[in-house]
Amino acid sequence: MIRRVLTGSFLIASTAYLALAATAADQDLRTQALGVFKPLPATMASDDNPITPEKVALGRLLFFETRVSVDGTVSCSRCHQPFLYGTDALPKPIGAEHRVNPRNSPTVLNAALQISAHWRGDRKDVEDQATKALIGFPSFGNPDFGVAMARLKAIPGYAPLFAKAFPGQADPITPDNWGKAIGAYERTLVTPAPFDAYLGGHDAALSRDAKAGLQEFMDVGCVACHSGAGLGGTMYSKFGVTEPYWKATGSKGIDKGRFDVTKDSGDMYVFKVPPLRNVAMTPPYFHDGSVAALPDAVRIMARVQLGKTLNDEQVAHIVAFLDSLTGKLPADFVGVPTLPPSAFAETPSQPAARGGAPRLPTATSPGAGHYK
Ligand code: HEC
Ligand code: HEC
Repeated sequence: MIRRVLTGSFLIASTAYLALAATAADQDLRTQALGVFKPLPATMASDDNPITPEKVALGRLLFFETRVSVDGTVSCSRCHQPFLYGTDALPKPIGAEHRVNPRNSPTVLNAALQISAHWRGDRKDVEDQATKALIGFPSFGNPDFGVAMARLKAIPGYAPLFAKAFPGQADPITPDNWGKAIGAYERTLVTPAPFDAYLGGHDAALSRDAKAGLQEFMDVGCVACHSGAGLGGTMYSKFGVTEPYWKATGSKGIDKGRFDVTKDSGDMYVFKVPPLRNVAMTPPYFHDGSVAALPDAVRIMARVQLGKTLNDEQVAHIVAFLDSLTGKLPADFVGVPTLPPSAFAETPSQPAARGGAPRLPTATSPGAGHYK
């Protein structure tokens, strides 16, 4: 009896000891991780484009709007699908008039955290990106902003929404405000993941393999480039530091990266280091979508960026860690909105047929409630 009690208390004591040791190991790992990574912020607010509920609501509609593109088929969401974590799963997306884009679509989730937008950093921020997409040849395909705005103005339901989002402006339907509304929406698309819970003190949020992978990610040297809240998006780097990238990826074309933007020879094959948030959900990988599987992408990175060959266990652990960066999709990204109707607008050539000016729905008219 006494022995049982003693054995029992020994077991309890040793379990408690192991738990304490585990907690101490977790605390060490967490401290080390917090030195290079940060939990995601609640929103990615910017001073230049403050987030307001009106802008976000409008931006969300515009993100899904196809009718502003030159052939009426292209919206932001075509290449940044909610059900594919803000990507389209193609190596290179297809835009207006079936044009193939030169590079892979990165996710829009957490994208506003970065120093710039696009693989080569040739867009300043998410607002600049959204505005220029309107006239991107393989994107919305409009010949100029005037055509894009005429298409937007032809959908009467937007006028009151732009007026609310940009109060006091005489003609708020502008390319700049299109970018600001969509940008404000994108700045809310944050996806906290198990990794954030772990950084916040929840030891059980990561599996043992994911913790081993986190340690490996830091020890092997991935953190030299993939750091901060996004695990990337903070700097540019040559792709293929130790050998040409295309030898490892099997890429068909060779993209000179930022060199084509800056014409500086130091920028040859330089790309923005992409964030690794939700990376397990966003294949295929790299700027040209040349690699389909995450373990392969991890091996290639170690090889061409660090000159290292990882063993199977290291790869499995790093992949488990990267999987812990898969976050919860924001509710207003998963749920698709109903867009303002265009049927009530009379074509400019025919208004007289019904007598008088076309009746435009206002924010308080019955039709306006459809697209909340
Ligand atoms: C036809 C497909 C397509 C459409 C339509 C499209 N995008 Fe993209 N998006 C891409 C591609 C491809 C890239 C990368 C381009 C590059 O780096 O050269 C990209 C890049 C981005 C980025 C930068 C992400 C990063 O990590 O650098 C953001 C943000 C973004 N798009 C948002 C939008 C928004 C908002 C719209 C609508 C206004 C839009 N996209 C329309 C394909 C598309
Ligand atoms: C010297 C900087 C550097 C280091 C070190 C580095 N990376 Fe990268 N990583 C990059 C760049 C740059 C890209 C984009 C390459 C391109 O243009 O396609 C990238 C892309 C990736 C991608 C593909 C992301 C996507 O969305 O397509 C993954 C996954 C990745 N890195 C993981 C890792 C891992 C794991 C390590 C450590 C073994 C690592 N990286 C080390 C710079 C680096």
